[in-house]
Amino acid sequence: MAIDKKFINQFIKVTSKAALSASYLVGKNDKNAADQAAVDSMRSELNKIQMNGKVVIGEGSLDEAPMLYTGEVLGTKEGPFFDIAVDPVEGTNFVANNLPGGIAVLAIAQKGNLFNAPETYMNKIATGKIDKGLIDLDFSIEKNIKNLSDFKNKSISSITACILDRPRHKNIIDKLKDLNVKIKMIKDGDVLGALYVSDPKYDVDIFLGIGGGPEGVIAASALDAYDCHFQGRFIFDNDKDIQDAKEMGINDLNKKYNLNEIVKGDSIFCATGITNSEVLKGITTNDNNYISETLVTHKSTNYKEIIKNVNLINE
Ligand code: FBP
Repeated sequence: MAIDKKFINQFIKVTSKAALSASYLVGKNDKNAADQAAVDSMRSELNKIQMNGKVVIGEGSLDEAPMLYTGEVLGTKEGPFFDIAVDPVEGTNFVANNLPGGIAVLAIAQKGNLFNAPETYMNKIATGKIDKGLIDLDFSIEKNIKNLSDFKNKSISSITACILDRPRHKNIIDKLKDLNVKIKMIKDGDVLGALYVSDPKYDVDIFLGIGGGPEGVIAASALDAYDCHFQGRFIFDNDKDIQDAKEMGINDLNKKYNLNEIVKGDSIFCATGITNSEVLKGITTNDNNYISETLVTHKSTNYKEIIKNVNLINE
């Protein structure tokens, strides 16, 4: 069954208002305050929606986070049952330092259809639509890049790979340099990093590397609507994470998840710009209004748009 498209505008309002709340803290050098403002807003707006929405990816467990904790049920408790993944501020450093790339994000699927991701890192790989079996987390960097270059009929030197700028990626980055691939190194924000593969206008052929697991699930839900390729493998490298994974029912700790194992069925994804980025303009305000840009996808209706809204700040 599909998610009724009437919910699209309601979820756009949720991320837009969260982005507005965080926007007051842009450049204030306080990422926790920006996150808290967006969390408060997102929770209060989600609670107005006629749904039984269970947070499957949130701000942490109940003892870590009193709001939007994993397992919290939101909405009026009347209406359809949804799984919700939230990232009220993705790119908290960007917002705190007034840099491009801060977004407020939300992904919704029907109950049981969104992977309940542990709070660990995830090794990820994403490309646009490709033939099955062409790109794989278990292939070498060389093989993936060569396969992609053959498939796209582009020289390896004109392939662009996006990766988070982290010491843990030194080996991958060295290999990409040896291959003479164009590297797009991002400081933070790997939800947007993965999203770049969804449209040729962003000029990114492949996204790869290790980032947050929850961010991986959220990005996958948008990439699903674009028919993109995504694989992820969680990294459990300490006793606590291994124990938590077992409690969550994850028995194969080395499992590689394909997109259709991370998000199933219908989904809605909304990302509103807090600060400007290549994908979205950030929040601007004038008099009593605020202007927001939201990337929205709705899988079942093949809806993929950037929506610009002008709304009253106090509505
Ligand atoms: P926050 O917005 O929660 O600070 O996350 C930013 C981010 O860059 C994510 O996009 C990414 O998945 C993760 O942090 C990477 O983690 P780390 O900074 O530990 O490498």
